[in-house]
Amino acid sequence: MEEHLTVGRVAELAGVSVRTLHHYDEIGLVRPSARTAAGYRAYLAGDVRRLREVLGYRRLGFGLREIAALVDDPTTDAVAHLHRLRGLLLERRDRAAAMVTAIDRELEARAMGIETTPEEQLTMFGAQLYEVIGSAYPATRRTEPRIAERIWAALGDARTVLDVGAGTGSYEPPGRDVTAVEPSAVMRAQRPAGAAPCVAASAESLPFEDLSFDAAMAVSTVHHWPDPVAGLRELRRVARRVVVFTYDASSTGWRERFWLTRDYLPEFAGLLAGWPALADLTQAVGGHAEPVLVPWDCSDGFFEAYWRRPEAYLDERVRRAVSVWTRVGPDAERRAVTSLRADLASGRWAERNRDLVDLDAAELGLRLLVA
Ligand SMILES: C[S@@+](CC[C@H](N)C(=O)[O-])C[C@H]1O[C@@H](n2cnc3c(N)ncnc32)[C@H](O)[C@@H]1O
Repeated sequence: MEEHLTVGRVAELAGVSVRTLHHYDEIGLVRPSARTAAGYRAYLAGDVRRLREVLGYRRLGFGLREIAALVDDPTTDAVAHLHRLRGLLLERRDRAAAMVTAIDRELEARAMGIETTPEEQLTMFGAQLYEVIGSAYPATRRTEPRIAERIWAALGDARTVLDVGAGTGSYEPPGRDVTAVEPSAVMRAQRPAGAAPCVAASAESLPFEDLSFDAAMAVSTVHHWPDPVAGLRELRRVARRVVVFTYDASSTGWRERFWLTRDYLPEFAGLLAGWPALADLTQAVGGHAEPVLVPWDCSDGFFEAYWRRPEAYLDERVRRAVSVWTRVGPDAERRAVTSLRADLASGRWAERNRDLVDLDAAELGLRLLVA
């Protein structure tokens, strides 16, 4: 029999009770795959790995049903789970640090006899929390106002809007009746309080009647869908108007122009293999494509966002907020970062990319599909 751990030993190592482990077994969350000769539960390496993921998400406050969906997801391997857990833990650590800072400030103010306003007292819990962290948070993905303006204008006078692949709610337009669709429990769990209601579903099979919304939008998500054309047809089915922010993978020109993929991460091209041409995506929604230039100081940290701020790609938090880096694998990531760091230090990057310094916005293949 493969090397195994008994239930008692696993409980002891993991710091949970044997009862908990029995419960996980009964509900099918972590089933020990073997029994000892005496008939006791025996945990093999794969079971222990799964238990580690379950306990990681549990400590982060996820419910057992959500955890089951996460660990059963066949598209997420052990490394992806570790990256995700790490990201969530770092976020929690930073959040705690920001709260400590806010509390220290208030204590200081009180010691000096200064009354803090109700607004100031609430900043540590609200969206302004990140302002306390300030520059330590370049990695966060958030609404870029200049791109949002384009998306919201394209939504026209739509009153009801479906946001598919909504993530944590960036780009959801204010002042309209928004419904979000997001398949990932991790992403749903990170939606801020007060965000639009969110349905757990996927683009390819939207649980809505035909033409139930004035408009459907999808931002930086289509490349994650297993079947982009089917998903886009679904958007077309459920809404009168469709607005999609995506990129043109068929134009090799921009890939050659973007120094990051050209000089450091050629593996990116492999991720695009099998990706439909822009014409197919446009046809699926029955509309047209408009170029969207990326401003040099883009505040949404997507892959291309830091084209004029190369040092940002050395920051792990920037990279972890973009799936490309996880998808190319740790070896390619390490090599790209090491090589970029060396070129920045030697001045080689600056020399090669001298022409970028004067640009305020770059055409890097990003497109708005409007139908
Ligand atoms: C990079 S995030 C973008 C989130 C948000 N729209 C934004 O702009 O910040 C991509 C999102 O697509 C979601 N997603 C992945 N597969 C999907 C699918 N088949 N249908 C809908 N959404 C999907 C992911 O869970 C993730 O939240």
